[in-house]
Amino acid sequence: MRVTVRDLSRFKGEHRRFAVLTAYDSLTASILDEAGIPVLLVGDSLAQVVLGYENTLPVTMEQMLHHTAAVVRGSRTAMVVADMPFGSYQGSITEGFNNAVRFLKEAGAGAVKLEGARVELTQTLVDHGIPVMAHLGLTPQSVHALGGYRVQARTQESADRLASDALSMEKAGAFALVLEAIPADVATAVSRSLTIPTIGIGAGAGCDGQVMVITDLLGMGAGTAPKFVKEYANLRAAVTGAVQSFRDEVESGSYPDEQHSYK
Ligand code: KIV
Repeated sequence: MRVTVRDLSRFKGEHRRFAVLTAYDSLTASILDEAGIPVLLVGDSLAQVVLGYENTLPVTMEQMLHHTAAVVRGSRTAMVVADMPFGSYQGSITEGFNNAVRFLKEAGAGAVKLEGARVELTQTLVDHGIPVMAHLGLTPQSVHALGGYRVQARTQESADRLASDALSMEKAGAFALVLEAIPADVATAVSRSLTIPTIGIGAGAGCDGQVMVITDLLGMGAGTAPKFVKEYANLRAAVTGAVQSFRDEVESGSYPDEQHSYK
């Protein structure tokens, strides 16, 4: 039995914090699932992390469906949330609804995530049995409109707007809310004002859950990570060391030795 929206609501009621991680493939999903991560997000960060794009905008419905299905196949107990890609829900409600349906029907996701205060679409999806995770604060699909990846809700006016959008999304039926790159005190106040759990990324310790991009957590990236990223491993160095050892042993002829050859 997979984690459900009711479990997350119970976590909030019990003041139980929970971890969310992104996953993009079946192997990683199986490791995170076995490690007890309750929610796997197939983020549109796939565009940058896996596909090498500069931002999240180019990733398509077909690519998101393909990777969501892989994460579903690799996991058994986690709730799998699929990020709706840029352009798949910002137009008509009908188009957003049809695309959300595809994530549940074709890929087996348990919920979808939408960026921004999409009140009407959220109501429609929830009315038709599609759980919605909301996402406010820094919404990377709006990077051009925001003028870059900047911390949001730093003025009183923008913090008030965010708090009011959060309440609207809760009223519309969202089961959880991602808060990205906002001051910790704003995130704490929003978290306290809602009955649904908040999931922070660069939003301080006052959120009900925390989400991180798996490759950030594992220290796989090449560049400088944002302030909120904590690297729990340095897999980039470990992988580099391993493949260099392989290369050296192949070049010197010490691999394969007798132990790794058939008689
Ligand atoms: O796409 C993504 O990975 C996300 C999380 C970082 C919240 O939206």
